Amino acid sequence: MGAPDQEPVDGVDVSWEAARAANLANWDDRVPLHVEAYGLDTYVDDPEHLSGVVRTDLPVLERHLSGGTLAGLDVCHLQCHIGTDTVSLARAGARVVGVDFSAPALEAAARLASVLGLDAEWVEGDVLEARVLVDEALGADRDFDVVYTSIGTIGWLDDLGAWARQIAALLRPGGVFYIRDGHPMLGTLDETRDELVGRYRYFSDGRALQWDEAATYVGEGTVSATRTYEWSHPLSEIVTVLLDAGLAIEAMHEGRTLPWRFAERMIELPDGDYAWPGAEADIVPCTFTIVARRPA
Ligand SMILES: C[S@@+](CC[C@H](N)C(=O)[O-])C[C@H]1O[C@@H](n2cnc3c(N)ncnc32)[C@H](O)[C@@H]1O
Repeated sequence: MGAPDQEPVDGVDVSWEAARAANLANWDDRVPLHVEAYGLDTYVDDPEHLSGVVRTDLPVLERHLSGGTLAGLDVCHLQCHIGTDTVSLARAGARVVGVDFSAPALEAAARLASVLGLDAEWVEGDVLEARVLVDEALGADRDFDVVYTSIGTIGWLDDLGAWARQIAALLRPGGVFYIRDGHPMLGTLDETRDELVGRYRYFSDGRALQWDEAATYVGEGTVSATRTYEWSHPLSEIVTVLLDAGLAIEAMHEGRTLPWRFAERMIELPDGDYAWPGAEADIVPCTFTIVARRPA
């Protein structure tokens, strides 16, 4: 059993190294739970099956690709976790490299790709050092047509400027970056209340939000390494770091649905996503999507 859950603490001063170590222990612990709960059999049973996240993202991303398809392109998937989205990108025809700092997550991802008979390469380490890690693992000539990251990503990072610079350095000239993630406004809401009530800071100042939680977002199991740290990133910060890294923003979207149950009272939709009940779905955005390009 993990430690009992405690109230989250906002505005915590913690070094990146200490926060990153706590987050890594937590993510390592989640892997066996997620391998059980992510429905990996579906990928084996149905050779056409794509993750719900990639099913949503692919048509949007492909509109920005010159051939209109991911097929034959080199894709770097940042924060790839246990590889369900990565193998889905491979099934869409991409040559994929998954990057994540959790060794057990990458082992699970490699096992999944191997069982499915899909080629994929995996790079272990911090996404904030992704360019040099890819160089060291795969060779300095490995540039990408697409850098992709989706759902549950930048909240784990303190320095978004460093993150954006990795993305720009991984892309070939003309290459496309795609992100969809929880909207920073969603992240301000109190997930325990039975109405929409703001609780957490929207604006960032470098200090972290500290959580102690044994449960994870899928399945019934609990982790032992309960302490995590997250950072809020306003939409203006996300846009600015991408522009500062030299990328040109081509599209932005804000969505009304989420692929995980942010609050108990969210409604499950027929496609497995979640939304606020009734008219509340129009009050606060659930996700943002940005597509950006490294100029040719
Ligand atoms: C919510 S998951 C990724 C979401 C993906 N859509 C999924 O469900 O498979 C977040 C991932 O980020 C990884 N992660 C967190 N912080 C990281 C960091 N600093 N560097 C690399 N990976 C990190 C975790 O190990 C985890 O696999």
